[in-house]
Amino acid sequence: MRSLYCGQLRKEHIGKTVTLCGWVDRRRDHGGVIFIDLRDRFGVAQIVSDPSRTPQSYDDADRLRNEYVVQVKGTVSERPTESINPKLPTGEVEIYAEDIQLFNPVRRQLPFQVSNSEIESVSDQLRLRYRYLDLRRDRMMRNIQIRHQVVKAIRRFLEDEAQFTEIETPVLTRSTPEGARDYLVPSRVNPGEWFALPQSPQLFKQLMMVAGCDRYYQIARCFRDEDLRADRQPEFTQLDMEMSFMSVDDILDLNEALICHIFKTVQGIDLPRPFPRLTYNEAMSRYGSDRPDRRFGLELVNVSDIVKDSSFKVFSGAVASGGLVKVLPIPNADNTISNVRIKPGGDLFKAATEAGAKGLAYIRVREGGEIDTIGAIKDNLTDEQKQELLERTGAQPGHLLLFGAGDTDTVNKTLDRLRQLLGEELDLIDTSKIDLVWITDFPMFEWNPDEQRLEALHHPFTAPRPEDVDDMKNAKAQAYDLVYNGYEIGGGSLRNYQREVQEKVFEAIGLSVEEANQKFGFLLEALDYGTPPHGGIAYGLDRLVMLMAGEESIRDVIAFPKTQQARCLLTEAPATVGEDQLKELYVASTYQPESSDSE
Ligand code: AMO
Repeated sequence: MRSLYCGQLRKEHIGKTVTLCGWVDRRRDHGGVIFIDLRDRFGVAQIVSDPSRTPQSYDDADRLRNEYVVQVKGTVSERPTESINPKLPTGEVEIYAEDIQLFNPVRRQLPFQVSNSEIESVSDQLRLRYRYLDLRRDRMMRNIQIRHQVVKAIRRFLEDEAQFTEIETPVLTRSTPEGARDYLVPSRVNPGEWFALPQSPQLFKQLMMVAGCDRYYQIARCFRDEDLRADRQPEFTQLDMEMSFMSVDDILDLNEALICHIFKTVQGIDLPRPFPRLTYNEAMSRYGSDRPDRRFGLELVNVSDIVKDSSFKVFSGAVASGGLVKVLPIPNADNTISNVRIKPGGDLFKAATEAGAKGLAYIRVREGGEIDTIGAIKDNLTDEQKQELLERTGAQPGHLLLFGAGDTDTVNKTLDRLRQLLGEELDLIDTSKIDLVWITDFPMFEWNPDEQRLEALHHPFTAPRPEDVDDMKNAKAQAYDLVYNGYEIGGGSLRNYQREVQEKVFEAIGLSVEEANQKFGFLLEALDYGTPPHGGIAYGLDRLVMLMAGEESIRDVIAFPKTQQARCLLTEAPATVGEDQLKELYVASTYQPESSDSE
């Protein structure tokens, strides 16, 4: 049907007769001569139909409209100098159409213009409703190709260079705890019982290590029923890996080689190795976050020791009750951040209180080192304390110091939020940078105040450091995350391969022996049959591709994503099903739709 892709047409084809297929990107009539931009996945070619030169195609060309699908046969000519388009790779040539076959017209009004030449902002709703048209657009076509290139690079590296085997694991399975709600599937043949869709293939990949597979990987679909954000979808894709007989250093080293291979093959970028590492404690202390965006400074400074005895109760009280006082120092803030924004009612004050802070104390440093602040600080900090604060934070005239005081979590959350907001607003982020950093030495557990129990920070199959096994509550995990420009793109750990240690972890999170056996008996049993030391990692493929493509939402790198309300606007899923189908599954809905006339 075709001899060449539209986007591949070049000067070397001049004089040849070619057949192209594609969509009419746009059609222009210039004084009786018709120009058609014909588009396929590789680009656009210019087709000309001139009544004096190619009368046989003129009527057909005249009838074409945007997005019609056609075949064009014609001879490639050099464009006249004045109509060369240097922006297009095909811009030096055009095709005089000898024959145009219409495969299919467009029978409805287009919901939006597909052509890249029409700059038009289209609502996300409309884009998702007509996703197949949205995917025809340049930007989406490019993103989908980047995704494909990334997956291809992953497969080449893992299979050809590192002896990994791709193995599929079940989608109809038991619940695996990754911290979200499960999507459930009722079993018709086992009435009253349910499968859970996997939140990750975690336990199956560990079982593959017990099986002696040694190195497993999978491009795996995962399902998590959680609140959605720009970097979260209810179904998303992981690059999931597991390896036997490797230390943390071995695993990180191999993964750096993998990531470098991806960047090199897809974007031609050489990333420096080894990737920097930060411990969890250091990341929290310097950035207030375990996924810091290190492309800009604005590092936090702990000043608890300076203000712990001050008569300003907000500060001394925070330290006395086990919390801390930290400062976010912002240089040259006089003209950019007004007091109105920091005081109650201001946007920065609001951001701080939304993160849990009770207020937002500040100090401004004026020329000559004078400081300007709220009364409470002025009156309650000694000159010496003020001086120490300026020295510790490196404050110069023009600096604004924003304070967080209270429990550690709230202070970190607040200052992390403000740091990110201001980093962006003050244009401090070098967007050309690629910052990849490993975060290591996570605590094993965090306190869940709602359930009044410890919870695994990663998941309960993560191994504690051997030296911490007897003090499980305070243990550090042999876990690591990979952070890319402030996004967690991957996380993993060494696993508990000895039954005793796994049981201790279950005990620490409040699982009784019976509960552990009931939920994970199959894993505990497998550990008794000769399980090798092993560990692994999973990357959020969508997030990695989103960042590499320079997009801000993973929706833009997924062909058919869901909306914020977890709906597919194209197929209108989820949808109701017939009573008889529910009956067959022994399922009855308790949902009561709100009636529109109720109070
Ligand atoms: P974790 O839960 O950290 O680890 O997930 C791994 C990576 O998957 C991505 N991710 C998501 N991406 C899009 N939408 C979501 N809802 C979503 N949730 C997570 C993140 C994250 O870093 N079994 C472990 C891995 C292991 O220990 O080997 C796991 O799933 O980029």
